[in-house]
Amino acid sequence: MNSVILGIESSCDDTSAAVIVDGVLRSNVIASQKVHEAYGGVVPELASRAHQQNIVPVVSEALRQANVKPSELSAIAFTRGPGLLGSLLVGVSFAKGMAIGLNKPIVDVNHLHAHVLSHFIKKEESDEVPEFPFMCLLISGGNSQIILVKDYNDMTILGQTIDDAAGEAFDKCAKVMGLPYPGGPHIDRLAQTGDAKRFKFSKPNIPGYDYSFSGLKTSFLYTLRDAKKENPNFVEENINDLAASLQKTIIDILIKKLDLAVKDYPVKHVAIGGGVSANSGVRDAISEFCKKRNIKAWIPERSFTTDNAAMVAIAGYFKYKDNQFCSLDLPPYARVEV
Ligand code: KG4
Repeated sequence: MNSVILGIESSCDDTSAAVIVDGVLRSNVIASQKVHEAYGGVVPELASRAHQQNIVPVVSEALRQANVKPSELSAIAFTRGPGLLGSLLVGVSFAKGMAIGLNKPIVDVNHLHAHVLSHFIKKEESDEVPEFPFMCLLISGGNSQIILVKDYNDMTILGQTIDDAAGEAFDKCAKVMGLPYPGGPHIDRLAQTGDAKRFKFSKPNIPGYDYSFSGLKTSFLYTLRDAKKENPNFVEENINDLAASLQKTIIDILIKKLDLAVKDYPVKHVAIGGGVSANSGVRDAISEFCKKRNIKAWIPERSFTTDNAAMVAIAGYFKYKDNQFCSLDLPPYARVEV
């Protein structure tokens, strides 16, 4: 074993630890926090407390499953940000404490950077990975970005949302429809049997590669409000068509800017990542988009679309190979660009 990396992720509401040995995944343990469901969103204070409870058993289990002793670790990688500060502090402090105790180096990882590099998580040595440069559409609950990935540690954000993220558009519209949080997966499910051409919602018209989703949210809200005045059961009676039309609008917005980026920066590979990349419609649309342009599409396994430490460990592995370590006084950050 040349390099044994422990990854720790605690940026939002999942406590996760993973072990990557010589670039190959050995374990990926995730403790999700159910405590937030009753509140319709993640409650930061509760998330921090749950991380405190979960972190020791999750890290122990990841090491156990990987059959790796703490003394065998080459480095400990942790998510430094962006995310909820209280949640991040748990993972950051734990990683530092463990590193001091074991006298091991630490590697700080940008959470968004890790989402992009999730395509390099190998289960077998022979697994294929994307070729540089490639374009990555990073779509999550907090971010929507088009990133030109030139190397493991060299990425440029070409465009990003100027207001809501794609995931927020799903979640906020789902809330108006009376669906539980997070609404994205519910919209996905309902859209499967809906007519996507039935309703039209507003699409943004902003220059460059940037995204905007707040206009769509408002237009969705007004459509429902006006329709409910005529028929109080409008949402219930049309829920599948509403979900399908909303999903189609979000996909059209995402694809339009991706198309522009790929025209200006010709690449042979396109990848997607982040929670929204679990969406069936998005996955199909990206596959079709790439097929038409003779581009190889990289669609992540669903378990790697949400927050996980495997992606933190792989991002840490590439920084470790570049000798990019950090100091023990490095603080976490809530917001940052790639
Ligand atoms: O990347 P992620 O786990 O959280 C952030 O760190 O932001 O993404 C969560 C987002 C939520 O907005 C959720 O509704 C959305 O991903 N999401 C989906 C689906 N699965 C998760 N959106 C649409 N369709 C899905 N199947």
